[in-house]
Amino acid sequence: MRLREAKRDLYRRLSKEEGHRSRAYYKLSQINSKALFMRRGQAIIDFGAAPGGWLEAASELVGARGMVIGVDIDPITPVGRNVRTLVGDVRESDLGERVIRVLGRRADVVLSDISQKIIGIWEIDHSVQIDMTLAVIGMLPEILETGGVFLAKAFDGPRLNELRGTLREMFKMVKIIKPPASRQASSEVYFLNIGYQI
Ligand SMILES: C[S@@+](CC[C@H](N)C(=O)[O-])C[C@H]1O[C@@H](n2cnc3c(N)ncnc32)[C@H](O)[C@@H]1O
Repeated sequence: MRLREAKRDLYRRLSKEEGHRSRAYYKLSQINSKALFMRRGQAIIDFGAAPGGWLEAASELVGARGMVIGVDIDPITPVGRNVRTLVGDVRESDLGERVIRVLGRRADVVLSDISQKIIGIWEIDHSVQIDMTLAVIGMLPEILETGGVFLAKAFDGPRLNELRGTLREMFKMVKIIKPPASRQASSEVYFLNIGYQI
């Protein structure tokens, strides 16, 4: 078995053994253990949250005095007392308003792990995913605190620079991260954006 396949199996197995909803749990935990941007008491919004691996990780990190809102086009089974979920499409114009109504304030951290069903034509899959990430970015003025953090998945490809340029205008620091739990063969990367300046 090649190292890459062994690693994929490791996180799938760990996720089963430790009772998490998805291997994605480890991606968010690994990114946060390097950058430490999620803390007790924070308000966090997670887009593309089903089945809920990131919600589990965020729920643990913010603790009982924090609050996490998970949004997905698919329903999410309940996660914990500090987690609320909403069914919604990031392309809906009133989604930001709906989320803020539930949270009662702007978020300290916005997460996006959105990906659509892949059709297998790389340029199209890449471009559709970037459009959805841009839809989340379009909500930030309404939902993210000044100084806040935005972590977003993006598929690598020709529009990655466009996305990076947009993020650089909005945040003090923009970094691309590939956590060990993300398969090397996958074109996904994560933009960690710190210090929202609008
Ligand atoms: C990779 S999964 C997210 C995994 C999740 N972070 C976890 O930890 O379990 C991507 C999610 O994006 C959602 N999604 C795709 N298109 C969407 C859209 N337009 N609006 C909201 N969610 C969407 C999918 O339903 C899917 O659940």
